[in-house]
Amino acid sequence: MIDDDAGPWSQLRTWIDEGGAVRGGTDMVLATADAEGVPSARVVSLRGLDDRGLRFYTHDGSRKTRELAARPRVAIVMHFASLRRQLRVEGDVEGLPRAEVEAYFATRPRAAQLSASVSRQGQPVSGDLRAQAEALGARLGAAPVPCPDEFVGFRIVPAAIEFWRGSDDRLHDRVVWVQDGSKWRSARLCP
Ligand SMILES: Cc1cc2nc3c(=O)[nH]c(=O)nc-3n(C[C@H](O)[C@H](O)[C@H](O)COP(=O)(O)O)c2cc1C
Repeated sequence: MIDDDAGPWSQLRTWIDEGGAVRGGTDMVLATADAEGVPSARVVSLRGLDDRGLRFYTHDGSRKTRELAARPRVAIVMHFASLRRQLRVEGDVEGLPRAEVEAYFATRPRAAQLSASVSRQGQPVSGDLRAQAEALGARLGAAPVPCPDEFVGFRIVPAAIEFWRGSDDRLHDRVVWVQDGSKWRSARLCP
């Protein structure tokens, strides 16, 4: 059974920690919607959980960032298949401060930094991106790769969190937490 005494944050932290140790355990499907409410979804990598929420990084000008600018509200789903767990979070998003984004970028492998610098996410490919990344690397030599202005980060601040645990008899366990002012309220739902 999912421990609903532990509170949503403690449970969230445990599932994200345990999920992060299994294959694909940082992949999260991120759903956004445009100004007309047309939805779109894609996988992004969860890069951290802090006291306020879940952080991910992406490229400004992409479809998702345009949609987030129009509607800063998202839903995410993580499926930890080997643990038979599903985690759903809904909430508002806030942009991460530039210093935090740059600090994260500095921890990325150099090849990832170079790719992020030459790829305008979502734009038609122009020229040979691999050659452009190599040329930039050669130009920089031993110097650090500057964090591109288009590289941005977001925090999802949960307003609702649902924990689902699979069971052989199909009577899966499902607990949803919804924020109600300064409190969180839980309910165990039929699966
Ligand atoms: C396993 C996996 C991890 C990914 N991680 C990220 C990520 O952290 N940030 C990102 O911008 N795109 C990531 N992508 C690519 C996105 O799924 C997507 O193709 C890209 O962000 C463009 O989405 P958009 O056009 O809806 O903005 C990842 C894809 C996969 C399959």
